[in-house]
Amino acid sequence: MTAQPTGIATPPSSSTDLLDLVTRFSTEMGAMTDPDALSERVIQELCRAGAATHGALYLLDREHECYRRAGTVGPLAKSGLPAVLPLTHPIPHHLSATPRTASGAELVSPASLKELAEAGQAAMATMQAERSLPHVSRGRLIAFSLLGAPLHPERDQGSMTSFLCALAQTATNALDASMLLDDLHRSHLLMKRTDRLKSLETIAGGFAHEIRNPLTSIKTFIQLAPERKDDPDFIREFSRIVLDDVYRIERLIEEILDYARYMEPKLTEEDVNDIVSSCLYFIEVKADSRGIKIEKELASDLPRVMLDRQQIKQVFLNLFLNALDAMSEQGGTLRVRTRTLIKPGGKQWVQIETEDTGHGIQDVNLEHIFDPFFTTKHESGEHEGTGLGLTIVHQIIQEHQGEIEVRSTVGVGTTFLVNLPAVPS
Ligand SMILES: Nc1ncnc2c1ncn2[C@@H]1O[C@H](COP(=O)(O)OP(=O)(O)OP(=O)(O)O)[C@@H](O)[C@H]1O
Ligand SMILES: [Mg+2]
Repeated sequence: MTAQPTGIATPPSSSTDLLDLVTRFSTEMGAMTDPDALSERVIQELCRAGAATHGALYLLDREHECYRRAGTVGPLAKSGLPAVLPLTHPIPHHLSATPRTASGAELVSPASLKELAEAGQAAMATMQAERSLPHVSRGRLIAFSLLGAPLHPERDQGSMTSFLCALAQTATNALDASMLLDDLHRSHLLMKRTDRLKSLETIAGGFAHEIRNPLTSIKTFIQLAPERKDDPDFIREFSRIVLDDVYRIERLIEEILDYARYMEPKLTEEDVNDIVSSCLYFIEVKADSRGIKIEKELASDLPRVMLDRQQIKQVFLNLFLNALDAMSEQGGTLRVRTRTLIKPGGKQWVQIETEDTGHGIQDVNLEHIFDPFFTTKHESGEHEGTGLGLTIVHQIIQEHQGEIEVRSTVGVGTTFLVNLPAVPS
């Protein structure tokens, strides 16, 4: 009797077993979203179904233009198969070029592909792989699985191949979905980063203004120092002032670097008033230059909120900058208020209200303002908008289990209400 290698269960034999396996496999695949975890699971199941002691799944890595080994079964696959294969490697090359039926079965290759097929077979032999299963989605080889020889070659190989093709097709769909999800996640990150860089422009403007004062005092000290070097009171007093100014500049630099650096969301217990004030501080210069008044009414007994400080800053900056844009022509007032909300049921929330006296939002636009790339800032005198600001605001608030609401009257102004769940006291 052949010893059963570890990790390989008995392959299914009856048709009920097969049906069970396909059903379980599809259900399980549908729930998995991480491409690597999925690849591991797929190759395990394919090896089990194909009674192979070893196998590997190679996944397309579009960023690095190669196929990388994302899942393996058996020690041989880990040690004997390369971690990365170029797109031009004979195996993927052959698998991409071979015409197949809808179920994935190989059709007779035209003579021109014979050489390619032979090169593919030879490469497989060096990798101790006997069978290959392409995972093709929308005409693209997104992955392929290599399996070792079957443990029971005497069994009906024809039906096993069709069964493997069916499983491979289910796996292809799941792999494709997980790769799309991964793409979506990446583009979200990219969107957030782009938006963050955009508001950084404003922060940098505020920063330049803020460091001018401390720099002037440092410069004065350096200019006066040679002639006043023997005056200990002057030296003591000015050294203190200069040191304070240097600390201030350091703090500002830290703020900017923190903001620019994209970090994985990090939730900490924070005082929302403190974040609101820090954002208002950065837009003051811009508001001033446009004749816009800033008023803040911050509740003194506000409960704390679990949040990602940098992300919530991004939310407030986007809302404040939009308000400034809406008032850029005639000036106006930006009022920011914070308060505690008690919802029915007793749960506490922190509400942040941003009210401007700008041009307002027309009803037809109101339902689109959170849509990606919706902007009215291409035709106006304001800066060119990307239309990503509010999309990101919405996404960040959702990630914080919060809510956002907008009310607007054309010619009167716009109010945004952001609610964040408070830490229970
Ligand atoms: N406070 C506001 N007053 C009036 N209109 C607003 C206000 N906030 C948002 N809008 C409208 O919503 C649209 C979308 O806003 P969003 O922040 O997503 O993009 P944007 O401001 O146009 O571009 P960007 O954020 O890249 O500068 C704006 O173009 C504007 O028409
Ligand atoms: Mg905006």
